[in-house]
Amino acid sequence: MANPTLLILAGDGIGPEVMGQVTRIIDWFGVKRDLTFDVEHDLVGGCAYDKHGTPLHDDTMARALEVDAVLLGAVGGPKYDNLDFSVKPERGLLRLRKEMDLFSNLRPAQCFDALADFSSLKKHLIAGLDIMIVRELTSGVYFGEPRGIFEEGNERVGINTQRYTESEIDRVARSAFELARRRGNKVCSMEKANVMESGILWREVVQKVHDEDYPDVELSHMYADNGAMQLVRAPKQFDVIVTDNLFGDILSDCAAMLTGSLGMLPSASLGAPNADGRPKALYEPVHGSAPDIAGQGKANPIACILSFAMALRYSFDQGEEAARLEAAIEKVLADGARTADLMGEEGGTPISTSEMGDAILAALEASL
Ligand code: NAD
Ligand code: IPM
Ligand code: MN
Repeated sequence: MANPTLLILAGDGIGPEVMGQVTRIIDWFGVKRDLTFDVEHDLVGGCAYDKHGTPLHDDTMARALEVDAVLLGAVGGPKYDNLDFSVKPERGLLRLRKEMDLFSNLRPAQCFDALADFSSLKKHLIAGLDIMIVRELTSGVYFGEPRGIFEEGNERVGINTQRYTESEIDRVARSAFELARRRGNKVCSMEKANVMESGILWREVVQKVHDEDYPDVELSHMYADNGAMQLVRAPKQFDVIVTDNLFGDILSDCAAMLTGSLGMLPSASLGAPNADGRPKALYEPVHGSAPDIAGQGKANPIACILSFAMALRYSFDQGEEAARLEAAIEKVLADGARTADLMGEEGGTPISTSEMGDAILAALEASL
């Protein structure tokens, strides 16, 4: 059988630094676990703009639609902040999500025991935390029309539109209920039905999908502002959270910090299954290109490596190998390996991006 294909788009800033550690791990699985991928590399974001004048070349887009999975590092940076909106690095990522139709974005927030002291919350609130945020990723205010900056009288007006169809809500709700059945069997849906019609529709459709097809899953609804507060007050009350594109963006950064650092949080963006049963899929860390630390070897590669673990699980049916990789990460953290973002108040000497990669590879080797 042909090897599965992976398209790696490392992107900008710390993207290539953290992805460098992922490619070492991919190579290790090839050599030691007989799990070989055909890996291709291409450009996305600012680096693609520098070469092609666009943040995502059409050929790259076409390839992303053909491969078995895409791994993405991060896009953006101050160098590109003043570019025309249509060619900003972030547009490359948004185009991938939209054209691959990756409507279900899974953002797990799990607290590793070794980092329980390091969260900005008290230890007992986050020890053992395991939440899955399911963020709708291809619609809502990110893509709704009309949008733009327009002249109105003697001033300008900036417009974006929150828009959701029933079918868009239906499909992301289903993905959340399916996931919940394999976890704690609880879904909390978040919107602002008190002030937004799109929120009213969201709540209705999620409830209908539940009542018709997932009555066995415990469902609750919460206004998203209360949800943000509850995430910080008592995060362990949640199992799966399902929410829209913008609320999901914000709530997942918030959840990331519960676990210690944005440098720890992976994500999987999944679409409908292909003929072979595999979903269209893109895996990326939740963090961005971190311009403040780029080029210094300080970035934490764990979010990106955990994103590859999600690829093993969701695209390649390699749950055991994903668990092996996750256990290796847990071990190095338990042994005290810390990049600078994980130093906290206890102090100590941080290790570099590649030293974290070395430690994880050593732990993988020890797992054999
Ligand atoms: P950011 O996530 O890049 O950084 C926020 C803070 O977290 C910074 O202090 C950074 O140093 C730290 N951080 C992030 N990842 C880290 C890691 N792996 N290890 C250690 N520290 C880490 O967010 P930002 O500063 O708001 O955005 C910077 C650029 O990245 C912007 O252009 C933004 O649009 C882009 N961005 C891209 C993505 C993506 O590609 N998916 C996501 C978010 C932001
Ligand atoms: C994320 C990022 C992106 C988003 C940007 C870079 C387009 O913040 O993946 O969380 O807003 O979705
Ligand atoms: Mn974000």
